[in-house]
Amino acid sequence: MAPRELDLVLFGATGFTGQLVAEHLISRYGVGRELRWALAGRNREKLSSVREALASIDAGAKDLPLLLADVNDRASLDEVARRARVVCTTVGPYALYGKGVVAACAEHGTSYCDLTGEPHFIREMIELHHERARATGARIVCCCGVDSIPFDLGVFQVQNAMRERHGVRCVEVKGFAGEMSGAFSGGTYATMFNMMEEATRSKAVRKVLGDPYSLTPGERGPDGSDQRGVRFDHDLDRWTAPFIMSAINTRVVRRSNALLGYPWGRDFRYSESMSMPAGPKGAVVAGVLSAGIATFYGLAALSPTRALLRKLLPGPGQGPSKEQRERGYFKVRMVGIGEARGDAPPPRLLGLVAAKEDPGYGATSRMLGESAVCLAKDALDAKGGVLTPASSMGNKLIDRLRAVGMTWDVEPLETPHH
Ligand SMILES: NC(=O)c1ccc[n+]([C@@H]2O[C@H](COP(=O)([O-])OP(=O)(O)OC[C@H]3O[C@@H](n4cnc5c(N)ncnc54)[C@H](OP(=O)(O)O)[C@@H]3O)[C@@H](O)[C@H]2O)c1
Repeated sequence: MAPRELDLVLFGATGFTGQLVAEHLISRYGVGRELRWALAGRNREKLSSVREALASIDAGAKDLPLLLADVNDRASLDEVARRARVVCTTVGPYALYGKGVVAACAEHGTSYCDLTGEPHFIREMIELHHERARATGARIVCCCGVDSIPFDLGVFQVQNAMRERHGVRCVEVKGFAGEMSGAFSGGTYATMFNMMEEATRSKAVRKVLGDPYSLTPGERGPDGSDQRGVRFDHDLDRWTAPFIMSAINTRVVRRSNALLGYPWGRDFRYSESMSMPAGPKGAVVAGVLSAGIATFYGLAALSPTRALLRKLLPGPGQGPSKEQRERGYFKVRMVGIGEARGDAPPPRLLGLVAAKEDPGYGATSRMLGESAVCLAKDALDAKGGVLTPASSMGNKLIDRLRAVGMTWDVEPLETPHH
C-alpha cells in the first residue's frame, strides 16, 4: 500500500461505542509516535468535546486531527478513505449508514473494520465490493466486536489446536455462549429494530436472514437452520437455548472456512447456542430464556409495539454505565470434535474465549480497536476482499487480544458421556 498520512481513522467517534474505542486507542497507543490516528464524525463541536475528554487520559490527545465526514456526503467519505490505511467505523445501523464507507474504502484500497451484525448488509457488500476490494487490496472486515470475534476466532483457535495436537481437523465445532453480564446501547437497539423493519418490508432480506450460507454466495454445506428450542448437549453436559447472535456468527464462521480455502472441509459443521448453568436447573433457565427471546422478537416485529420499545429502551448515544461495563464479563466455549481415525473415539477439545468486561461495549471496544490496529500495522497474509476476522487477521489478532487481557485457551475435553 502507498504510504498514507494516517494509520487509522475512527469514524463515529462521537457515538457511545466510538468513544469507548477512542479511549482504548489513546490509553494503549497514545497519539502520533506508535499510531498516527484521527477522529472523524459529522459534527465538529461534538468531535472537539470527545477530544477534550480524551486529553484527560493522555494530554497528547490535543494533537488528534478531527475530520468532518457525513455518510450522506460521499466526497467526504472518499477523502477520509484516501488519507488513511484503515477506517474503523462505529456509525450504525450499518444497513442504513455503512454502505458508502465500504464503497469508499474498497475504491481507495483502504482497509476497513466495523461492528455490524447485519447479515443482509454484509451480503450486499460482498456482492458490490468483494471483487473491487480484491483488486485494490482493501481488507474489508465486518463483525469485529462480540459478534463475531469470539466465535469466528474461537473456531479458528480450536481448529488449529486440533491440527497441532491430534493431526486432524475438527469435522464439527459447537459454539456455546455461556456466562455473561452486560446490556445493550441505543445504537444496538436501533440496529435490531432496523433489521426487523427491513425484514418485514423485503422478502429478499428475509431470505438472506434465514439462509445459513448467506455469506458464502454460491457455496453450500451440511448446516441447517439455527437452534430454535431447548436442547441438552451431551458433550458439554449442559442444557442449551437458542442464541440470538448465532444468526450472524454462524454465517461468518462458514465464510471464514470458504475464504481460507476450506481447511476445515466442505462437510464441516458449525452450530451455536447458549449454554445454561450445569445441572437440571439449566433446563428451567433455558426454557425461560427461549420464551423471553421469542417474546422480544414478537414485540419488535410489530410496528406499534416496536415503537413502544423504542421509547422505553436507551436512545442514540446511550448505553450501559462504566460500573455496569466493569462489572460485566463473558465466557464462550467451543467444543471441537476431531476427525476419527480407525476405531479410536474422535479427539475432543474445549476452546475457551473470555473477557472480564461486558461483552457489547467494554470488550467490544477493545476488539474493534485492536482489529483496526492489526489491519494497520501487522504483516497479514490475507489479500483484499470482503473478509472475516479469522480469514484476515487470525493469530495476529488473537495475540493482540491476549495482550489486552482477553483469555484464549484450548484444553482437552473430558466428557462423562463418551
Ligand atoms: N456487534 C457488536 O458487537 C456491537 C457492539 C456495540 C455496538 N454495535 C453497533 O455499533 C453501532 C453503533 O452503536 P452505538 O450504540 O455506539 O450508537 P450511537 O451511540 O447512536 O452512535 C452512532 C454514531 O453514528 C454517527 N452517525 C449517525 N449518523 C451519521 C451520519 N449521517 N454521518 C456520520 N456519522 C453519523 C453518530 O454521530 P453523532 O454523534 O453526530 O450523532 C454517532 O457517532 C450500532 O450499529 C450497533 O449495533 C455492535
